[in-house]
Amino acid sequence: MKILMVCLGNICRSPLAHGIMEHLAQQKGLNWEIDSAGTGNWHIGEQPDRRSIAVARKYGLDISGQSCRQFETADFERFDQILVMDYSNLNDVKALARNEEEHNKINLFLKDTIVPDPYHDDDQFDPVYQMIEKRCKELIVEFASTI
Ligand code: 4NP
Repeated sequence: MKILMVCLGNICRSPLAHGIMEHLAQQKGLNWEIDSAGTGNWHIGEQPDRRSIAVARKYGLDISGQSCRQFETADFERFDQILVMDYSNLNDVKALARNEEEHNKINLFLKDTIVPDPYHDDDQFDPVYQMIEKRCKELIVEFASTI
């Protein structure tokens, strides 16, 4: 299974989803490929936001080695699932899909609701971590049963 986590900046939400999913897959001995990207280009090459690094560290995960990159159309070929954090990400990535197969790979990470952008609120990083971790645990079970 190859999964790409997508948000706007690729410095707050998707790096957490990337790190958590990678860790859970490794724990379960699943040889999955997990990556993340942003629809925007402001932070290319940067580490995740220091607040995402800190909250991940608090829960025993090191995401400081990740490097921000922008989503590109080649990602549709590289990944089986492209999981986006909010409706704006959904619209932006859908706009780049070139056929039905590519459209079908794009889903909201939380299925029918969004992961709110914590960028402007330090207090949101912990709840965002919790909601991402909970969903990653569900996704591991969901996807593991389809392969
Ligand atoms: P993210 O949060 O999409 O969860 O990485 C953001 C980070 C940076 C910006 C917006 C959202 N920004 O506008 O720079």
